[in-house]
Amino acid sequence: MPSIYETLKKDHDSHRDLLAQLAETEGDSTKRRELWKEFYYDVGGHAAAEEETFYAPLMEGEEGQPKGRHSVAEHKELDDIIQELDEMDMSSPGWLTRFKTLRHDYEHHIDEEETEIFPVAKDVIGKDEDGSIGEAFLQRKDREMELVDQKAEEALEE
Ligand SMILES: [Fe+2]
Ligand SMILES: [Fe+2]
Repeated sequence: MPSIYETLKKDHDSHRDLLAQLAETEGDSTKRRELWKEFYYDVGGHAAAEEETFYAPLMEGEEGQPKGRHSVAEHKELDDIIQELDEMDMSSPGWLTRFKTLRHDYEHHIDEEETEIFPVAKDVIGKDEDGSIGEAFLQRKDREMELVDQKAEEALEE
């Protein structure tokens, strides 16, 4: 089983790729809609699972608390921009401007996780050699994405 570090890095790389592809899209197009939906769901599931299976044990150690708190606060800030973009008209020129801010801030967040947080976490929660934390993360992420689906369906029914 891949470790939590490899698993998180793999998600981050796919998010970097989606952001780069989204930056090339124009207006209210099928391409932009599809890529945005994929990014929206995947990042939502990633962040929730990351908080529960990675940041929670990291913050149990005193050494991990400042970085953990900083990162979880960034999740909230990023989610605010993501929700804002999700509700915004994709054909408005403001969408891409706001998206550029999200891309910059999100890339900064994941770069920081990989370069500053992973080394501390390897000390605090360990190297996850058997991949058990990575596995817990993936299971939690799947569940979160199902929940988001359910909520979206309920919102449509109302
Ligand atoms: Fe994160
Ligand atoms: Fe992450």
